[in-house]
Amino acid sequence: MSIIIKSDREIALIREAGKIAIDLFKVLKEHTLPGISTGELDRIAEKFIKSRGAIPSCKGYGGFPGNICISVNDTLVHGIPSNKIILKEGDIVTYDVLVTLNGYTADAARTFPVGKVSDEALKLIQVTEESFFKGVEEVKPGNHIGDIGAAISEYVRPFGYTLTEEFTGHGVGREVHEDPYVPNVGKRGVGPMLKKGMTIAIEPMVNLGSVELKILPDGWTTKTKDGKICSHYENTVVVTDLGYEILTLENKE
Ligand code: CO
Repeated sequence: MSIIIKSDREIALIREAGKIAIDLFKVLKEHTLPGISTGELDRIAEKFIKSRGAIPSCKGYGGFPGNICISVNDTLVHGIPSNKIILKEGDIVTYDVLVTLNGYTADAARTFPVGKVSDEALKLIQVTEESFFKGVEEVKPGNHIGDIGAAISEYVRPFGYTLTEEFTGHGVGREVHEDPYVPNVGKRGVGPMLKKGMTIAIEPMVNLGSVELKILPDGWTTKTKDGKICSHYENTVVVTDLGYEILTLENKE
């Protein structure tokens, strides 16, 4: 596969899908309360996405059973929604959503606190989010994919946190996963060159403790081996003439 350059029309379609993801996070945030199950949150997401005429594209992707990924505490990615997983005060929860509208897909993730959480957890969420913005500031024509991961990892590591290399960002738009890979660690000047019209998902996944992960027997749920918490923040971004536009973020979110 090679990197797809999207037309303005295609970018507008991804932007429309992105608006649904933005609104979905508002709905999910309101429902992120102690006592709710991740199964219930998944049904809320499904209903909301479909009410906007869109498709929750996690469903069935590689056989994934949920409409969105919901990952609690020490689950880094690909948590399967379940009526048996109940949020409790002090948890942190990540929603990773794929929204497809008129054939075009936006990909985004947010980690939210459940009620009052530790300062340690809040800081991890904050640094993960900030690291995305360090990465995205590197996005402009002529820069390289490696510049993004370099900026993310240079920002995250001084906090003592770790960044997985087993999962990466990726091209997105016509498909859920397109070229190129967008790693969260990298070297400046290395990797494919960014060009106007590329659409990529940048998604730092940050662990409080060790970088080591394990996948549960369900084949999806990916947890930290040490059981420590982790955070994830993702947006779909388009390379513009002079820089970038974030397609899954409201101006003042
Ligand atoms: Co993604």
